Amino acid sequence: MWYYFMPTKIYFGEKCVEQNKDVLKSLGKKALILTGKRSSKENGSLDDLLRVLSQIGTDYEIFDEVEENPTFSLIRSVLSEYKEASFDFIIGLGGGSPMDSAKAVAVLMKNRELKVEDLYDVSKYTEALPICAIPTTAGTGSEVTQYSVLTDDQGFKRGFSHPVVTFPKLAFLDPRYTLNMSQSLTRSTGLDALCHAVEGFLSRRATPISDLYAKKSIELIAENLPKVLQKPDELEARANMLLASCLAGMVISQTSTTVAHALGYPLTTFKNIRHGDATAAFLDAIVEQAVLEVPEKVGFVKSVLGEVSAFLKRVGLDVKVPINEEELELWIARVKNAPHLQWTRGSFTEDLIKYLYERVRIH
Ligand SMILES: [Fe+2]
Repeated sequence: MWYYFMPTKIYFGEKCVEQNKDVLKSLGKKALILTGKRSSKENGSLDDLLRVLSQIGTDYEIFDEVEENPTFSLIRSVLSEYKEASFDFIIGLGGGSPMDSAKAVAVLMKNRELKVEDLYDVSKYTEALPICAIPTTAGTGSEVTQYSVLTDDQGFKRGFSHPVVTFPKLAFLDPRYTLNMSQSLTRSTGLDALCHAVEGFLSRRATPISDLYAKKSIELIAENLPKVLQKPDELEARANMLLASCLAGMVISQTSTTVAHALGYPLTTFKNIRHGDATAAFLDAIVEQAVLEVPEKVGFVKSVLGEVSAFLKRVGLDVKVPINEEELELWIARVKNAPHLQWTRGSFTEDLIKYLYERVRIH
């Protein structure tokens, strides 16, 4: 048995925001834009958006202090800043962080009595403000997923999702906005997309539809990630990466991520390794562990990428961090209890988890 549900309207292509203003207008008269300090100003996306919003007569406020890896306290500060204001919809403009923040804010502004912690109990809410997602990186796929990953007050990354209301209503994907990503951001976001596609493809939750998207996404990334790293200005390769990222997002909207993500989270929150790099550091293990259960799928991945570790090396991934004993123990315990294990193929024993962390550890 399987089913498919992904309710986001996707508009893809150069100038897609401007060319589809009426769709944006349909979301309401007043928007709250969540974005970061710099990149949406530098890549032209914020200018485009503001111009279109004034053309259609939609009011807006801009909160531009969303940082990488948004925390509970960031979400609280958005809510307190706009305690008196009311908005018809929320726009997340930027990478995964503004889009994930938009999902949290959309739920909490619609349900003012709830606290950030309540996002994790879906029995507490059935509605959210409409969300419009405009990605400016090619990796998270957050524009087409119900997931939002926030860092809790203890410093751990924790994802929440609602099966319906946290999906963006609208996603605008304009590849021009991804052109001026730095090389390291291009790599880490591209690898995040690759992890979504491969993890979802090998997941016990994979479906015939998610597999179609996953295969296409893996093929696009294998061909285009090396290209955009070498020639960052090539719009066609950038567009292919943006499509791959969106497809991979649609994959995990059905399958969710697997244990590579759980393994990577502490490297990001405690060691400042970018999310995609942190996750990809464990991707080869996901593939090797799946070989007994789904050999033909592993065969497909290797036929497209070659050996995963060789591909990662080729695109320049190199993750090494100091980890002390106390951290190691705590992280292993977290991963052992991660829900991701239920649908990750193979057997991620305590010994294997420890070995994988030892591999990225500087001694
Ligand atoms: Fe991810």
